Amino acid sequence: MSYNRKEIGPYEFIESFKRNTGLLVSMDKNRKPNVMALDWKTIQEFEDVPVIRAQVDYSRYTYKLLTEGVNEFTVNIPSDKMYNAVYIAGSYSGRNTDKFKEAGLETIPGKRTKVPTIKDCILSYECQIIYTSKSDLKSHHFFYGRILIAFASDEIIK
Ligand SMILES: Cc1cc2nc3c(=O)[nH]c(=O)nc-3n(C[C@H](O)[C@H](O)[C@H](O)COP(=O)(O)O)c2cc1C
Repeated sequence: MSYNRKEIGPYEFIESFKRNTGLLVSMDKNRKPNVMALDWKTIQEFEDVPVIRAQVDYSRYTYKLLTEGVNEFTVNIPSDKMYNAVYIAGSYSGRNTDKFKEAGLETIPGKRTKVPTIKDCILSYECQIIYTSKSDLKSHHFFYGRILIAFASDEIIK
């Protein structure tokens, strides 16, 4: 299935990546995914490897999944129409809410990761965690995910 998107290089459409809040998907050991709104994200080169660095507060359920669940995550940049999904992903916790269901988000199986991406997003990145470190903010932790594959929707490729 094409899902109306194409594979792109990791640094293409980087302005859209930077400008918009992301939806970070992580997964527990039983392969149940969770989604969280993510503003603090960068794309950078880390020893010649394209990497997304996500900054996640220790209190998030997402932090628990990134450290104790599957060693991967995806970052998805929603289209403007998906503002309600960003609100739900950023206001509720996966500890007690199925945010995919609540927000009406559909997933697409990962091509290179166990963690899925999110349908109808303008950009999606499948990442494998290669490094983590404390951030300057005591409350947050950095997760560096090697970008294994990236996609852009037909909507932004045009
Ligand atoms: C627009 C927006 C951006 C956010 N960006 C971040 C972020 O970069 N890092 C972070 O730790 N929390 C961020 N949050 C907060 C989390 O998304 C929020 O606490 C969420 O409910 C955590 O879900 P979880 O407990 O299922 O992991 C953001 C929230 C919103 C609304």
